[in-house]
Amino acid sequence: AAGGHRTAFVDNDTKPNGHGRMLRKEDPRFVRGRGRYVDDLQLPGMLHLAILRSPFAHARVVSVDTTLAEAHPKVRLVVTGAMLAEKGLAWMPTLSNDVQAVLATDKVRFQGQEVAFVVAEDRYAARDALELIDVEYEPLDPVIDVRTALSPDAPVIRDDLEGKADNHVFDWETGDAAATEAVFARADVVVSQDIVYPRVHPAPMETCGAVADFDAVDGKLTLWSTTQAPHAHRTLYAIVAGLPEHKIRVVSPDIGGGFGNKVPIYPGYVCAIVGSLLTGKPVKWMEDRAENLISTGFARDYVMRGEIAATRDGRILAVRTHVLADHGAFNGVAAPVKYPAGFFGVFTGSYDLEAAYCEMTAVYTNKAPGGVAYACSFRITEAVYLVERIVDCLARELDMDPVELRMRNFIRPEQFPYRTRTGWVYDSGNYAPTMELAKEIAGYDALRAEQKERRARGEIMGVGVSFFTEAVGAGPRKDMDILGLGMADGCELRVHPTGKAVVRLSVQTQGQGHETTFAQIVAEELGIPPQDIEVVHGDTDQTPFGLGTYGSRSTPVSGAAAALVARKVRDKARLIASGMLEVSVADLEWEKGAFRVAGDPDASVTIQDIAMKAHGAGDLPEGVEGGLEAQICYNPENLTYPHGAYICVVDIDPGTAKVTVRRFVAVDDCGTRINPMIIEGQVHGGLTDGVGMALMEMIAFDEDGNCLSGSLMDYLIPTALEVPDWETGFTVTPSPHHPIGAKGVGESATVGSPPAIVNAVVDALSPFGIRHADMPLTPSRVWEAMRGRPTPP
Ligand code: CDP
Repeated sequence: AAGGHRTAFVDNDTKPNGHGRMLRKEDPRFVRGRGRYVDDLQLPGMLHLAILRSPFAHARVVSVDTTLAEAHPKVRLVVTGAMLAEKGLAWMPTLSNDVQAVLATDKVRFQGQEVAFVVAEDRYAARDALELIDVEYEPLDPVIDVRTALSPDAPVIRDDLEGKADNHVFDWETGDAAATEAVFARADVVVSQDIVYPRVHPAPMETCGAVADFDAVDGKLTLWSTTQAPHAHRTLYAIVAGLPEHKIRVVSPDIGGGFGNKVPIYPGYVCAIVGSLLTGKPVKWMEDRAENLISTGFARDYVMRGEIAATRDGRILAVRTHVLADHGAFNGVAAPVKYPAGFFGVFTGSYDLEAAYCEMTAVYTNKAPGGVAYACSFRITEAVYLVERIVDCLARELDMDPVELRMRNFIRPEQFPYRTRTGWVYDSGNYAPTMELAKEIAGYDALRAEQKERRARGEIMGVGVSFFTEAVGAGPRKDMDILGLGMADGCELRVHPTGKAVVRLSVQTQGQGHETTFAQIVAEELGIPPQDIEVVHGDTDQTPFGLGTYGSRSTPVSGAAAALVARKVRDKARLIASGMLEVSVADLEWEKGAFRVAGDPDASVTIQDIAMKAHGAGDLPEGVEGGLEAQICYNPENLTYPHGAYICVVDIDPGTAKVTVRRFVAVDDCGTRINPMIIEGQVHGGLTDGVGMALMEMIAFDEDGNCLSGSLMDYLIPTALEVPDWETGFTVTPSPHHPIGAKGVGESATVGSPPAIVNAVVDALSPFGIRHADMPLTPSRVWEAMRGRPTPP
């Protein structure tokens, strides 16, 4: 496979007629401030909705008095949980078959939970009126520490669930416990490490919101909302609210970042719908930053123990892990239903093991619900972090170079497709060249020599490595569904008479550049320039059904659909061309953009000629319908398994314990690359996210369950100031089952970078006797670690 390394933008202005570096078609709109987000929407007569939230983490709701709020001159409607309960709408299903309160009726179960809402003439009046609602609470002991959630005297959070007498959500296991135990028993070396992946938040730039507009005359509800999955949301609204599905239109306009945060259906969306149904007016609800951080889907929050068994000469034999998963007050995990722990099953990493076993217990706590896949294909981030940390711990134990240890244990190219010990089938991979390229770009050996010299001078420098394999592109539908909806994606392509085209997708971009890359996919197949192909998405009335964008599934699933629908159009174009050129189909050769008669270079028709013929006057070949269009629903055969090798260099200030990421090398392999510039942008963003998680971000709580991270002053997200100039490279190992060989890449860097950074920090601190420190590695945590104290949980 061809390798490459690119550190700077070059040839940006090329206009490839297919795959290649091409400026984003959507950017002129965004750089001119002409993006159209939910909050930009202004409809005639529109009202504004604000939500009253619980100040307590756990309390009985004794009474809610709305009299004063209702008397506010600008208030049109005040709704409480009791009122929703009368309509059977107080509870809604979560994505994991639990239920969640739309508005609290009996109890509040996390700080920030929705208690009542006000609809008023403007946003200010709505917010003012919240203060006029008088709620009497009877505070209850909260369950905050996941480690004590199952103790017999812990208060029961979910007493709304019949017969529920504890805070247990589920137990899950994968792999072979006995076989793993046998391997551990005979291993020369066993290393065990407690590892926490703290609760973090996707924190998209644009918070969540919706505008609901119910038209009582034609009975149609239009909902503009910040959703990553408009079709799935529409179907669920239809099922839950009993509205006919064809009378619901969900529009997801420009979205200012999703990262998994915009997958769930939030109470606010439902409140906006109820508000519009009851007032007969359009109703807008838009969260503020604090509401987004304290009440919407969090990510991670896994307390893990990792164990690894190996031979003395560095052959990894088995990994085993126990996980305690904090699911918050309602199980809002976003994952295909068969996989309660998402794709955590890939914790076996990129290594050829003899055995593996994982057991997990999930519990309720008095914290916001979630467990969304934050820039991650359903818990892969946690899995990769676990295995890449314990492999590093093992390297230390064996006194072996961490790159060398990984290289010795990689799944070999000839072993693909490779079935892991937990049953996942990795489609393709060629790991060693990717690792070698990362080493080469980093100048790895020179870095180790430099580290030695610096250490001798009392400086604190670390080099960290991670290697990951992701599983992205859920379905296939036989294995994967969300609440019964199979994970496949539709696509429609229509070529207009003049040869311009429109492609309609079921996935929805949140900034990943789909308007460009999907046009490029079609361009590559048909030879119509990408500038001539309009991409339509994010509107259920305009696009075919499909499950949406998350878990880097757009390119693996919908991208495949776009390529195949274009091939279907090309097959029809071939029939029309045979009529136009008066030869049999077998005599035609396709050369991007035109059919030629074999052996007669002058006889050819372009795709544009064919499009006009398809719509024009005169006969078409026998049995061929007019028009040039096709549609498809693509059900992937397997997930795609991108991989990557990351190397991070950090310096730690001995006086302040501040970590600086000096260099970061990322070599990604996502198979066929559609737009290398967009891929680099995705990687840069993900790496920046990784710096945030490794060094800065945590949603923390005090012992009463007050969320301590409700603003961007307290929840630190990285900026350009905290990150180095990224050094990126790539290898190409195509997916064997994807029609163009592409694998997903949108989340690779978020998955792969935290372990590289933490491994670098721990490497830097090894002279202090440190083997592990938990994220986020803030100056205070690093300082504690340097003084030989454990990092706080
Ligand atoms: O589902 P999501 O769009 O978040 O992730 P993705 O499928 O990994 O794609 C992210 C962006 O990178 C899209 O614009 C893709 O088309 C582009 N991409 C690419 O150019 N080549 C690939 N092999 C994978 C993704």
